[in-house]
Amino acid sequence: MDIKLVKDFSKVYDAYVMPKFEGEVKVYDGLTDEEKEVLEGVIAKGEFTGKHGTSISCQLIHKGKLANIIYIGLGKREKLKPYAVIESFYKALKGLDGEILIGTHGVEVSQIVEAVHYSKYDFDKYKTDKKDKKVTSFDIFVEEDTDAICEGTVLAESVILTRDLVNEPANVIFPESLAHEVEVLGERCGFEVEIFEEEKIENLKMEAFLSVARAAEKRPRFIVMRYMGNPNSKEINGLVGKGLTYDTGGLSLKPSMGMVNMKTDMGGAATVIGTMSALARMKANVNVVAVVAACENSIGGNAYRPGDIIGSMGGKTIEVDNTDAEGRLTLIDAVHYIINYESVKEVIDVATLTGAVLVALGTSTTGVLSNNDEMYKNLEEASKIAGERVWRLPNFPEYKELYKSKVADLKNTGGKYAGSITAGMFIEEFVGETPWMHLDIAGTSAADSPYGYYTHGGTGQVVRTLYNYYLKK
Ligand code: BES
Ligand code: MN
Ligand code: ZN
Repeated sequence: MDIKLVKDFSKVYDAYVMPKFEGEVKVYDGLTDEEKEVLEGVIAKGEFTGKHGTSISCQLIHKGKLANIIYIGLGKREKLKPYAVIESFYKALKGLDGEILIGTHGVEVSQIVEAVHYSKYDFDKYKTDKKDKKVTSFDIFVEEDTDAICEGTVLAESVILTRDLVNEPANVIFPESLAHEVEVLGERCGFEVEIFEEEKIENLKMEAFLSVARAAEKRPRFIVMRYMGNPNSKEINGLVGKGLTYDTGGLSLKPSMGMVNMKTDMGGAATVIGTMSALARMKANVNVVAVVAACENSIGGNAYRPGDIIGSMGGKTIEVDNTDAEGRLTLIDAVHYIINYESVKEVIDVATLTGAVLVALGTSTTGVLSNNDEMYKNLEEASKIAGERVWRLPNFPEYKELYKSKVADLKNTGGKYAGSITAGMFIEEFVGETPWMHLDIAGTSAADSPYGYYTHGGTGQVVRTLYNYYLKK
């Protein structure tokens, strides 16, 4: 993609995309009187005042070339929200081709750059009959130099990396190939990668993880990513992503309708990989270690069964009530590992964990549980900058009754009520005193149909929230 900053726009473009704040709509001085008159007519006719969510467009012969002029309303300048910029620009840019000039008008350039990238995103690599892609170039008009292209591009590319990983089918992304992708990324972005094969996973006694992984032909991998961007600090932040490269439900098999999207069940892993790439590429001043227990929840003669009692790396025994509640089983070993072997001072797990979070919060909002108010407060602030919605659910001790087992320490489901809470609290049983936060992205990590600046499929949601969260560390 060709994006650059320009300080004059004497060049003749195919399209001019200009942000306008409410009450500050003024046509550009570089137009002739006649052109101004046309444009002012269009503004008056469309009653365009720069209100957020509105836009007008008109075609003019400008300097001898047909030009598309688009004004985007951003609302009142003092009320501007960053995500409003990305969404408004995305909508205006989507579908535009050719040479495009973008005005900034005091808007954060890195967010415009993000919108440019998202406007060109389409997961069409498997279509043999690709739509003709015209060459598009974006010149962004600025008065002063900034390195905003870099940050906007890194953020967008990290979000897109997460989307791509979610969108890749399970015959392409499975534990081994995911591990390989991460190795390549680590090399390219600047973080260290270590991959544990089965023998090492067995030696570490990750019995819960291995139980889930047992039936699949695609063998599990445990992926460790380390980014130490602040050598002056001993503090290491832990990040864990659910990495089910496919979830059939196991012997508690999912119905076809529920299985069809389960290639996306590594959305948590994709999110932590995207976040690590962003932090490393931006050389963020923070230490983060991320892990993914990657496996496939499959069926077979050696599959783990409902009724089995299994162990876990943390030592607690678990009655398997439902093999489809597999994510929490992989996560407890990953969380135990990261706390005890990577000496992290806090841990965040990100997981497409429950259908129940969709019932509770829908597709726009990530459900959160935490044992630490300060951590949640910081996440909430970071999410507001990113324009991504999070909402905290309670972890009251009363809920613990729901996942007590008659025959083991715990069982892996909590029954039909409060499904997202009991799933998160099951993980909490393995964190001890360590500050912990759990992000259930089952509703937000992939979209059935496009909305906002998201296309169908992986959204990359939460990457920008986590990036902001760690920048503040
Ligand atoms: N991966 C699913 C959760 C999910 C559902 C993700 C829909 C994305 C969209 C998870 O492993 C699962 O199957 N959860 C069960 C838990 C139940 C058996 C207690 C669920 O939500 O039904
Ligand atoms: Mn499942
Ligand atoms: Zn799952």
